[in-house]
Amino acid sequence: MRRPIIAGNWKLNKSIREAIDTVTLLKRQLADVQAVDIVVCPVYTAIADVAEVLSETAIKVGAQDVYWEDKGAYTGEVSAPLLKEAGAQYVVIGHSERRQFFHETHETVNKKTRAALKAGLTPIVCVGELLSEREAGRTFGVVGEQLKGGLAGFTADDLKQIVLAYEPVWAIGTGKVATPQQAQEVHAFIRKQLTEGWGAEVAQAVRIQYGGSVKPDNIAELMREPDIDGALVGGASLEAGSFADIVKNAVVVGVR
Ligand code: PGA
Repeated sequence: MRRPIIAGNWKLNKSIREAIDTVTLLKRQLADVQAVDIVVCPVYTAIADVAEVLSETAIKVGAQDVYWEDKGAYTGEVSAPLLKEAGAQYVVIGHSERRQFFHETHETVNKKTRAALKAGLTPIVCVGELLSEREAGRTFGVVGEQLKGGLAGFTADDLKQIVLAYEPVWAIGTGKVATPQQAQEVHAFIRKQLTEGWGAEVAQAVRIQYGGSVKPDNIAELMREPDIDGALVGGASLEAGSFADIVKNAVVVGVR
């Protein structure tokens, strides 16, 4: 059974005050939505305050990254137990911006995912190809490697706790959304990889989000595809009204 899941990745945007204002609006606008899991991912410094505002609601809070050690001499890092303590229940791992600008590898994605699971956080593990890789016909190869490396060593039970996000890098922040067919093709490939690695039952249970220029007017057609179970939204999640519209427009199919 796959319940749709829409997550907003605010990236490096919003002060604590601005974050509180946004979720205060969201809370009102999404009070009646029950058919979708909803997550917002503010910067670290706003997590606790955002979680406080959302405490009596169905909207959950996520972090945008995590370190794999619990504590120690790792200046500047934040661990999974601390995120949990601050009120996070999800964490985005291996976003393409982290892979590109902060040199994350399959191995770091793997360690971070393991740490998140250990702390009881739901990891949202991101995969996706660059434009040059797509043009070279390497999309499945690249995504396959990211899955293999990022998820190596996890059990079927682990997999059931993980959300995956397919985000073609050429569609992120560009306004150039993948067509529903392009996205579905890769989502189906991901599910096939999951079937081969962990069996059909696990593959059918794992939710796979699409990410890359998702907007209120393109979410419904994406959600109609059989293997697209939600979205990871960047730019259009910053404004409460547009994020709320995306969530509402995502309810075109129920649990599958
Ligand atoms: P975008 O970002 O919606 O602004 O394209 C998506 C993401 O980076 O998760």
